[in-house]
Formats: sequence, C-alpha cells, structure tokens
Amino acid sequence: MLRINMLLLMLFFSLVCSSVTASVSYDDRAILINGKRRILISGSIHYPRSTPEMWPDLIRKAKDGGLDVIQTYVFWNGHEPSPGKYYFEGRYDLVRFIKVVQQAGLYVHLRIGPYVCAEWNFGGFPVWLKYVPGISFRTDNEPFKRAMQGFTAKIVSLMKSEKLFETQGGPIIMSQIENEYGPVEWEIGAPGRAYTQWVAKMAVGLDTGVPWIMCKQEDAPDPIIDTCNGFYCEGFKPNKDYKPKMFTENWTGWYTAFGGPVPYRPVEDLAYSVARFIQNNGSFMNYYMYHGGTNFGRTAGGLFIATSYDYDAPIDEYGLLREPKWSHLRDLHKAIKLCEPALVSTYPAVTYYSKNLEAHVYESKSGCAAFLANYDPSTSAKVTFRNMQYDLPPWSVSILPDCKNVVFNTARVSSNGWHMKMTPVGSFSWQSYNEETVSADDQDTLAMDGLWEQINVTRDASDYLWYLTDVNIQPNEGFLKNGQNPTLTVMSAGHALHVFINGQLSGTVWGGLDNPKLTYSNGVNLRAGVNKISLLSVAVGLPNVGVHFETFNAGVLGPVTLKGLDEGTRDLTKQQWSYKVGLKGEDLSLHTVSGSSSVEWVQGSMVVQKQPLTWYKTTFNAPAGNEPLALDMNSMGKGLVWINGENIGRHWAGYKAHGNCGNCNYAGIFTEKKCLSNCGQASQRWYHVPRSWINPTGNLLVVFEEWGGDPTGMSLVKRTP
Ligand code: GAL
Repeated sequence: MLRINMLLLMLFFSLVCSSVTASVSYDDRAILINGKRRILISGSIHYPRSTPEMWPDLIRKAKDGGLDVIQTYVFWNGHEPSPGKYYFEGRYDLVRFIKVVQQAGLYVHLRIGPYVCAEWNFGGFPVWLKYVPGISFRTDNEPFKRAMQGFTAKIVSLMKSEKLFETQGGPIIMSQIENEYGPVEWEIGAPGRAYTQWVAKMAVGLDTGVPWIMCKQEDAPDPIIDTCNGFYCEGFKPNKDYKPKMFTENWTGWYTAFGGPVPYRPVEDLAYSVARFIQNNGSFMNYYMYHGGTNFGRTAGGLFIATSYDYDAPIDEYGLLREPKWSHLRDLHKAIKLCEPALVSTYPAVTYYSKNLEAHVYESKSGCAAFLANYDPSTSAKVTFRNMQYDLPPWSVSILPDCKNVVFNTARVSSNGWHMKMTPVGSFSWQSYNEETVSADDQDTLAMDGLWEQINVTRDASDYLWYLTDVNIQPNEGFLKNGQNPTLTVMSAGHALHVFINGQLSGTVWGGLDNPKLTYSNGVNLRAGVNKISLLSVAVGLPNVGVHFETFNAGVLGPVTLKGLDEGTRDLTKQQWSYKVGLKGEDLSLHTVSGSSSVEWVQGSMVVQKQPLTWYKTTFNAPAGNEPLALDMNSMGKGLVWINGENIGRHWAGYKAHGNCGNCNYAGIFTEKKCLSNCGQASQRWYHVPRSWINPTGNLLVVFEEWGGDPTGMSLVKRTP
C-alpha cells in the first residue's frame, strides 16, 4: 500500500513538475518549446491601450483567432513616472495582463525595449530621463546605460519573482531588448556598435532562461536572434544560419495621425504576406497590432498621433471582431497548423514554374504540405501540381496541408464583412466654464529672459504652456492714426498655437505630422500703452523616433517680431517673457468631481457656445446593454476629454484628413499610403469610452475645448456590428 502511495506521489510530482517548467531554445528552423519545434502565430496587444476589464475578452478572441502568442511592449514611462517610483496598477498592471494570457493557455513575447517607438509618448522613455545630467539616449553613454539597465533589470526581476518565464512555469517564451536599433547604429557608427554589444551582454546577463531577440538589428550579437519587421518578410535571413527566421511586426494596417486619413490593409494582402513568410521557412509571425486599442490620456506620441490606435487590426479598437479580417486570418492559422508537422520537419523544395509561379513543398516522413503561389498582381494562374490542376487568383497563395487539397487561399475570402454602426444613445445638457487667458503680470507666472523650450519648462506635465509678454506702444505711433495694424510674427517649433492680444483671440495655427513647425503672422490690434501678448503653445505628444529624438524642441523658440512700427521691426525674442505651465482648469482639476464643484459653471441659456478655451461638463447615465461606447466629437475642434476623472484622450475632430482616398486593390505591394479612408472628414471622429469607466448613473463628462467647437452636437454612441 505504502509503495503504491509512494508511486502515486512520485507520479503526481512528475506531472506537476513537467507542467510547471519548460525549456525554450531555438535552432535554424524554429523556436523549440520543451525540445519541440513550433510554428508560432503571435499578435500584439499592448496592455495600457485597453482596460484590465477588456483583457480576458481580447485574449479569448485572440485565442479563438488561432494565436499561440501575445506580444507586448513594456511601457517604461507608464511604470516609472518619476525616478525610482514605480507604478504597476490599473492599465499598467503588467503581471495581471501576463497572467490573463497564461490562464488562456497562450504564450507571451515580452518586448522590454525599454525604448519601444510604438507611437507612444517619447517612445516609452520617461520625460525625466531627458534631464539626467550628461544623458544621451540610445548610445554608448553611461547615464543612459545605467538607467536603461536599471529598468530592464527591474522588469526581469519582477517577472522572475512572479514566476512568469516559461522555464519557471510561466508563459513568457521570449524577450526583446531595444527596438529597431540597427538603422540608428548605422547612422551613428562606432558608439552605436559599442552600445549594441553592451545591450546584448546586459540583456543576456539577466539570465531569463528564454531567448532574446532584437528586431531590425542585422548585427545582433549571439545568442540574440535578429528578426524582421515590415509588411512582408519572406526574403529575410537571420544573421547566422543557426537562428530561426522570425517576423516580429507584420503591420496589420497603420496608425492614424490627426490631419491624416485612416489607413487600412486588405486582409487578402495580409494573409498573402503571412503565407509567403511561412512557405519560405518562417516559423514565428507576429501581427502588429492584433488589437491596437486606444492611446488614452496623453500617451500618444510621435507628434500628432491620434487617440485611436485601431490600426485596422483583426480586433478593432473597441474589442469587437473586425470582419472579414479576423475570420479570414483564423482560417489561415488553421491551415498553417495543419501543415505544422510537415513544416517543422524539413526545408521546402521549391519549384519555379515561371517568374511569378512557385510551389513550396515540405515533404518528409512527418507528412507533406504544399504552398502554391502566384505573385502576379493582375492575372490569375493555373498550375499543375502532382497531376492535379489548381487555380490561383492574382497575388495569392494556396495552402495544401496534405499536398493535395486546398484548404485555404489567401485571396478567397469566404466570411462576410461587418459594417459597424455607431448609434446615438444620448445627448447632453451642458454647463460651461471659461478658461481665462493669462497675462505676464498674473500670479503664478515665472519671469525669464527670452524664449524657453516648451518641454524644458512643462516637463510634459501638461500639453499647454503660456508664453506671456508686454508690448509698450507710444501714443504717437503712426499705425494708431493710419489704421495699418502692425504684423506680429511668431515662429514656433510646434505643435499648435493660440495667439491672444489683450485677452482677445487673434489667431490659431498648427503644424502637422510632416512638419510640426508653425508660424503665426498676422496684423494685430494694439493700443497705446501696455499690450498683453499671451501665446498658448500646445504640444501634441513628444517625439518617439529619430536619432537623438530627445533633443527635438517644442514651443515658441522665436523669433517673435512686431513689424510696422515707427521704429521698423521690434524684436520681442530676447525681452522678458513670463511662463505659466498648464491651464487654470487643470490646476483646479476640473475633470474630477471635487475639482469641478469648486467653481461656478454657467447653465441653461447662458452656456457659452462655440468659444475657444472653454470647459464643458455634464452628467449622464450608462446606456443599457454591454455594447462598447464612444463619444461622437464631430462637432468639436480640439482639446481633451475626461469621464469620471479618467482621461479618454486628446480630441481633435476639427483636424480634417488630407490625402487621396482612391480605390484600393489588395493585389500588389502594400505600403502605408496605399489604402486610405476618411479623406476630407475628421481624422478621428469617435472616442472610445471604456464601459468599465462608467457607473450606472451620474457619470461626470468634462471636455476642454480649445478651438470653439459646438458641444450641443456631441453624443454618446453604441458600437454594434
Ligand atoms: C515600427 C516600430 C513600432 C511601431 C511601428 C509603426 O518600426 O518598431 O514600434 O512604431 O513601426 O506602427
């Protein structure tokens, strides 16, 4: 009896042990989990771009869609808002996110970066990092390396303490250090090469037990695997013949910028890109993004990046399936999985029928799988393969998991498309509050000589910075008599600017994705005596990409001149300016229940309409049901929106999409400029309101409107297929 019990106990332990620990390694063909080569389909879902309440459903939909792996970046500036003060709660609860993935039975690819690019503010770097003495980002620079190592080690030790690496029984099978550093290294030369060596050593030294990858890094030092990002990666080769061929970012669409159209990528082309990669020895393929989500608050970065990060991903911004994209890719994944035993056992034999016609056949005693491909973008083709005839639409790949029957063709989409409806479920009754213009002699302003760079002053605590100065006009100035207003010219490094003269709005200018710089130049109404010049400079995200993007400037750097005075042109650049960071409404926390009740709001017929710099508030009850919700901001200009104190993001429906939105054929090389929608309309009209941020009744909605939009046109909408 005792012996049987002992045996049972041993069996139990061996089962537990084998299910809790696993090894991850790689060879030239694939990533190996527990010694077994795997063809892995992965998808990016960035945890702070949705709410924890959404995570289980998103992950379930990813699993149902045939994914094996969830890939995410780690967002340093979300986790370490000030040096040494860490935050891992709410949307930044990384451990919880990874455990949700683990519970669903999927793996994790953790891209620690900690530089992430990702259309995320400052590429993921905390703004305080810029002000560490002697720092220079992403190069052989001691202060930077110290900080980067500190954060990377912090994340690795957090993952280890929660037993989240696969070797500890967790779901993380791989990590990433840096992000697309190759092009930067190429540009900066020797210090870049030294940094790459250091980064690799540092990462490997952290001893995670699972492989590291570096994307777009041709010289990734061993044992780190270099990987490919792009729209297509079939031609990619890793830098050593003992490394597997991996595609870490297959862009499912592209990001939207305010002022730009909304890009989309036809699923036929996306599926074609995946199939071509797999038929050419690829073994790990990640969709960037599988769910893009939302840039809540002020997390959008790169300049002018919209609040929506929908990305035309298979799961849309709201967590709903995007059809036919999601289903078509699910069917593709099923077909690839049927081929997996054949794929991992051998290399393909390729038959070239003609310039654009090929067969890739994986045949061994484990089975036979074939891919028949027609690369011609305009004509379909017939091919005879093993005595059978197959029709191939243009720009398509057919998958034959038994080398006989076609179970999938990338261009034959069988599921139906869904057209999403945005149905209004409520309008609002508003109260308003005027944001006053500030002038140089107001309290709480800081006087300094000359013009200061914006982020240096705000440290990104707010999008807004007031530049304030006085201009003295003699009573005998000629223009006072002849009515020829002098011209005020303000040169700014970006990104938007409101010019007030003696408290009156005199003009608004803004830059764009291609050029954030702007110039205001206009006749201004000045009077004899002291005139108050108040410039409200607005930043719209910090840069996220470019060599030494930490040195990019924002704000009014000058020159600022006044032309047409008796003396000629007066240069105001070097005179005394006063500064005020942020809006008064921000100081008062008008977006919160307590802050908003600390001031008098105007109600009923007195509510201010279509005025710049106005705060609006209202309360509303949750609409019945559980469909995702959004705010229709089409009648509004630019600003920020909060619900129950949560910042749902920058709104800028007033910025209309420039561009050519012609027809788009799936066939032929895709680029982010090929398939565009929304031209002439708001780049972003709808703003996601997560259900978990609202209560059944009495929700506080606060909008800060810079431009003078009309809040009576705003409504709450439900999104349904
Ligand atoms: C890649 C980068 C990603 C993201 C993407 C564009 O180059 O690695 O982080 O920025 O471009 O969406």
